Amino acid sequence: MNYKKLILKAMEAREKAYAPYSKFKVGAAVIMDDDKLYSGCNIENASYGATNCAERTAIFKAVSEESKIIKAIAIVGDTVNYTYPCGICRQVIEEFSDGNTNIILAKNENDYIIKSFSQLFPGAFSKKDLI
Ligand code: THU
Repeated sequence: MNYKKLILKAMEAREKAYAPYSKFKVGAAVIMDDDKLYSGCNIENASYGATNCAERTAIFKAVSEESKIIKAIAIVGDTVNYTYPCGICRQVIEEFSDGNTNIILAKNENDYIIKSFSQLFPGAFSKKDLI
């Protein structure tokens, strides 16, 4: 699959980041199993712990519109290093992954790497454990 469109969506979302405290802008975009795309940015808060990461903003938008399985998620943070999803976002991705999710770590639409989610989050606690 060509991830350029997804990365461009994440880059566009990054422009909307609300990050007055860290100044670290992040954008994310997901493509769901129904092929719909959703994007999101990080949204910080004066009470720092209330901050929402870009990945979760995008995922929650998708899930609240009925799409439940993430085929791939593109993440664009700074342009020097690839930005990996934080631990909380990995747990949220786990919830909406069917085991085949790809994580696209991008600096821009021409410079990105693809990781399988299972590579980034082995041994996850998941709904399978709640039996
Ligand atoms: N952040 C994200 O949005 N996604 C990540 O994967 C890493 C961190 C945000 C949270 C906070 O607004 C800022 O980046 C600095 O941690």
